[in-house]
Amino acid sequence: MLIRRPRRSDVKPSEITSESIYRRRREFMKAAGTIAAGSLLAPQWLFSRTLDDLEQLRDLGELKPSPYSTDESPNSFSDITTYNNFYEYGFGKDDPARHAPGLLRVEPWSVEVTGECEKPGTYAFEDLVKPHRLEERIYRFRCVEAWSMVIPWVGIPMVNVLKRFQPTSRARYVEFVTLMDPEQMPAQRRPSLPWPYREGLRIDEAMHPLSIFAVGVYGKEMPAQNGAPIRLVVPWKYGFKSSKSLVKIRFTEEQPLNTWQQITPEEYGFYANVNPEVDHPRWSQARERRVGSFFRQSTQMFNGYREEVAHLYRGMDLRSREYW
Ligand code: MTE
Repeated sequence: MLIRRPRRSDVKPSEITSESIYRRRREFMKAAGTIAAGSLLAPQWLFSRTLDDLEQLRDLGELKPSPYSTDESPNSFSDITTYNNFYEYGFGKDDPARHAPGLLRVEPWSVEVTGECEKPGTYAFEDLVKPHRLEERIYRFRCVEAWSMVIPWVGIPMVNVLKRFQPTSRARYVEFVTLMDPEQMPAQRRPSLPWPYREGLRIDEAMHPLSIFAVGVYGKEMPAQNGAPIRLVVPWKYGFKSSKSLVKIRFTEEQPLNTWQQITPEEYGFYANVNPEVDHPRWSQARERRVGSFFRQSTQMFNGYREEVAHLYRGMDLRSREYW
């Protein structure tokens, strides 16, 4: 069954639950102790249903709370969709929201899978998503520029998708590549970055249960400026690891060179784990500004996901340049 992905104009105003109601409900649920945070929902619900339906599913007991969500208050939909980094649309924080929605065409969309795996091929977006249950994951998100947000993503555990391609024993890393199309992404006409944007993870990082392919935010399909229709989210790493608008996944034996490491290896490494003890050469990483908040707060080791991920880096000196 194909997923129907309505355009914004298809959604009746009466079908949209306002963000303030969403937040109030979550407060209520928390207070009532019924739902910790997060939920599971079947894929067909995402694109054709609204937050009201999600609440109904929760009430029906069809949604399981995700142990991976934070109960911190999410940023507003407006914060999440107007303060962005998506350099394919310019370097200003408001450039992606101004340009991406009118230029990025997400239908049809496919992702090419290559390299060290038994099932390479070109997969339509719908076929990638369809077999999986979507989950709502409310994650802290920390940019290397020392701002942060809390974002209610909707996505699929990356491990569930990657396993379908049957990586071989030689697949030690996975590379993720963004669309290259200067007509849809005008800044790609300039050599401001070595396009296309690319990122990589060690295979065990990619297979970690916290890593997701995100296809939505706040129960709605992914806004163009946030990396529609599908992007990575790896919450214990700086935000630049989360490549947007994915078109290629490559399994490889060699550690891939990510865009930022390629440009300024003295400032950005491959691992990019959030680490308040290792400063960026030009600024401190000890504190962060939560978008929408006046005061700075302390940054947490691994962005607060230490318990879940520290074992991945046992024996590695995270202060050494090799493991930045
Ligand atoms: N992916 C692509 N293709 N291009 C980009 O410029 N910026 C990265 C990351 N993924 C970027 C990208 C950076 S620096 C950050 S902080 C996050 O996207 C921002 O995600 P957001 O705009 O959804 O908050």
